[in-house]
Amino acid sequence: MPSVTLAAPDDFDGWRAAVRTLVARDTPPSAVTWLIAGEAGDLFGEAAPGGDAALPSFTVPKAFLDMAKRVVCNAEPERFALLHAALAQLRTRSKLLDDAADPLVRRLYDLDKGVRRDVHKMRAFVRFREVDATDGERFAAWFEPEHHIVRLNSGFFVRRFAQMRWSILTPELCAHWDTADLSFTPGAAKGDAPQGDPIEAVWKTYYANIFNPARLKIDAMTKEMPKKYWKNLPEAALIPELIAGAAGRTRAMIDTAPRDAPAAATDALGALRADAASCTRCPLYAPATQTVFGEGPADARLMFVGEQPGDQEDLAGRPFVGPAGQVFDRALAQAGIDRTSAYVTNAVKHFKFEPRGKRRIHSKPGAGEIDACRWWIDQERAAIAPAVTVALGAMAARSLTGRVVTISKERGRAIALPDGSELWITVHPSFLLRIEDKAAAAAEFDRFVADLAAVRDRVATLA
Ligand code: URA
Repeated sequence: MPSVTLAAPDDFDGWRAAVRTLVARDTPPSAVTWLIAGEAGDLFGEAAPGGDAALPSFTVPKAFLDMAKRVVCNAEPERFALLHAALAQLRTRSKLLDDAADPLVRRLYDLDKGVRRDVHKMRAFVRFREVDATDGERFAAWFEPEHHIVRLNSGFFVRRFAQMRWSILTPELCAHWDTADLSFTPGAAKGDAPQGDPIEAVWKTYYANIFNPARLKIDAMTKEMPKKYWKNLPEAALIPELIAGAAGRTRAMIDTAPRDAPAAATDALGALRADAASCTRCPLYAPATQTVFGEGPADARLMFVGEQPGDQEDLAGRPFVGPAGQVFDRALAQAGIDRTSAYVTNAVKHFKFEPRGKRRIHSKPGAGEIDACRWWIDQERAAIAPAVTVALGAMAARSLTGRVVTISKERGRAIALPDGSELWITVHPSFLLRIEDKAAAAAEFDRFVADLAAVRDRVATLA
C-alpha cells in the first residue's frame, strides 16, 4: 500500500504534488495512506512523490483547488483521501462540485465550512496584548484553533495589522510578523502569551457599550462565541454581569420594541445573514474583520441603506455604531424615528480601507464591489419588503437605482422602485461630519433631519 508523508498537517502543495501522480497512475484513494512528518505512523512513510513529467496532466476547476486549500486544513484525518477521491472523479465529471447531493461533495463542503468557521472565529477572537519588549512595541495573542488554519489565516492578520510587530501563539504553530516578514515556529503553551494589559480596559468598555441586551440569546451567543474562547477574551469577563443586567435593560427598551416580525421573514433574514458571513463575492472580505450585515426587524416598513461599514462597525459587526452612526442616531431621534423599528444596512458589507500606520483609513468601494454586494441588498429588500427605502448618500443611491445620482437634484421626494415601493435619497451622515463651518454644518444637519421627518410622515401614510 503506498504511503505519502506530507511536511505538515496543512501541506497543500505536498498533497497536490503527490495526488497528481497518484491520480495519473490510477491509484485508488482507498489504497493510499497519508501521513504527516513527525506524527505517529510516519516512520515507514515515503516522501511525497513529486510531479512526474512523463505522466499525463489534466486541468482541475479553480473552485476545487480553492476549496482543497481550505479542506486540507481541516483536522479530519480522512481529508487527503477524500480530496484524492474527488480529484479522481473530476477527470471524468468536471461538474462534480455542482452536485450538492453527491455524498462526497457534501462531505467536502462540510469540511470546508468547518475550516471557514474556524477562520472566522480566529479573526473575530484573536486579541493582541502588548508584550514587554526592549526593542519597541510588540504584541502577542493566544488562540486555540480547531483546525490547522494558522498559516491559511496569517495573510489576513498581516494585512490587517501590517504596521504592528505581532505573534499569534497556538498549540500547534505560531505565526510572527515583524512588519516585513512572516515566519512560523512550532506550537507554544498558553503561559507563553501575555495575560492582560491596559489595552483590555478600553476594549471592555467598548464591548459593554455595543452589547445589546434585547438581542441576548444565550444559546446563540455561546454558539457564536463558544465558551472555549471566552477564557482568552478580555470582554468575556463582562458577560455574566451583562447577562444579569440584560433583563432590566431590555425592559427599558420595551416601549419602543418593534412589532413581532413574521417568523418566515425572520428566518429568511437569519439565513441570509449566516450566508453573508462567509461571503467572498469580492476581494474586500479578505482584509476585513467580518461581514457587517444589516440589522432590524424583518417586517420593518422603513429601511436605511448606508455606504459601507467603517472601522468601528468592522470591529463591532454592526452598522452605524461609529461617529457617522452617532450623527445618524441624533438625527433619527430629532426626526422622531425609533431606530429599532427600522432596518439599517449598507450597500457594501465589508470595510474597505488603506492601512496607514496603526490606523485604517476608509477608502471608497469601486463599482465592481458595489455591484457584487448588490446581491445581498437585493435579498435583504426582498425578505423585508420595506414600504420606503432611504439611500444615505450617493453610493447607496447608485446601488439601489443602478445609475449615478446627484443628491441635490433628487433628495426630498419619492422615486419609484421596480418592486412598487419608494426610494428616498438624502445625504450620508459622514458628509455632515466633514463640514468645517459650524453654522453650515448645523444648517445641513437640520436639512437632514427634515428629510428624515418627511420619510417618517410618508411611511405613516403608506402603512
Ligand atoms: N458609514 C456607513 O455608510 N455605514 C456604516 O455602517 C458606518 C459608516
